[in-house]
Amino acid sequence: MSRFKHLISIDDLTKEDIDYLLSKADSFLPIAEEKRKLKILEGKILANLFFEPSTRTRMSFETAMRRLGGDVINMTSQEASIVKGETLADTIRVVSKYVDVIVIRHSLEGAARFAAENSDVPIINAGDGAGQHPTQTLLDLYTLKRESKLDGVKIALVGDLKYSRTVHSLVKALMLYKAKIYLVCPDSLMLPEELLEEVRAERVEIEDAISEVDALYVTRIQKERFPDEEEYKKVAGSYTITSSLLENAKEDLIIMHPLPRVDEIAVEVDNSKHAIYFKQAFYGVPVRMAILSEVIEWKRD
Ligand code: CP
Repeated sequence: MSRFKHLISIDDLTKEDIDYLLSKADSFLPIAEEKRKLKILEGKILANLFFEPSTRTRMSFETAMRRLGGDVINMTSQEASIVKGETLADTIRVVSKYVDVIVIRHSLEGAARFAAENSDVPIINAGDGAGQHPTQTLLDLYTLKRESKLDGVKIALVGDLKYSRTVHSLVKALMLYKAKIYLVCPDSLMLPEELLEEVRAERVEIEDAISEVDALYVTRIQKERFPDEEEYKKVAGSYTITSSLLENAKEDLIIMHPLPRVDEIAVEVDNSKHAIYFKQAFYGVPVRMAILSEVIEWKRD
């Protein structure tokens, strides 16, 4: 019996749900690494509906589905009949007749929830505007669990905390694990007010964060979400993590980034023992295997 049908927001999951998915991801890790084969999704089809660009989320969902024996069909905004004037609701109603699960990314906050209301099959939110990115959060938590620690982790969220949907989802989940959260950002890119009211966090300078934390979670300044280019220019390049900045870091500090990166982490850091972001992107595969198998199981119930 599956625990949930759709995955729209991290708020839809309890801590027990998250722990369950993370241990399920552990069991899928050898399949993601191609050490073992398991074709439990044979005959099932995933539709990737990406109305915004993606490399990691779309491709790791596709990899996860194919390694578990399933098939994938992809559609981007340029290819969809939405360009002819079809509504998102009609698109979802139709696609949900063809496939077993839909992964959707859209520029509008709330689009995935709206899709779920119009779908016969499970909907997974792959990012809705500056809203949420719950599957990224699950892989972030999985990375913390495997590469550092999750319960009581000291973590600094760095960069664009206003528009980064990965941060909006992650910060809520971290509260469940009693994390000590530090915020490092320009004034204009602080967390949205409603999240600030909910989250216990302390604002610090980047140098203080680096010497204190177990994990740095660095984010890109989300240029595409700024209503005004001039406002973006004021904060572009605010932080760059360099080797010299890491001189006072804890031995076992890990540096995470949901990627893509622009200039927030210098390329010289990639070879340091702290850099974990490419491994983090790989963990998207076992985590998304866990999510897909869970929601598709729902359909079978
Ligand atoms: N982290 C993330 O969502 O990456 P993509 O935009 O490449 O999917």
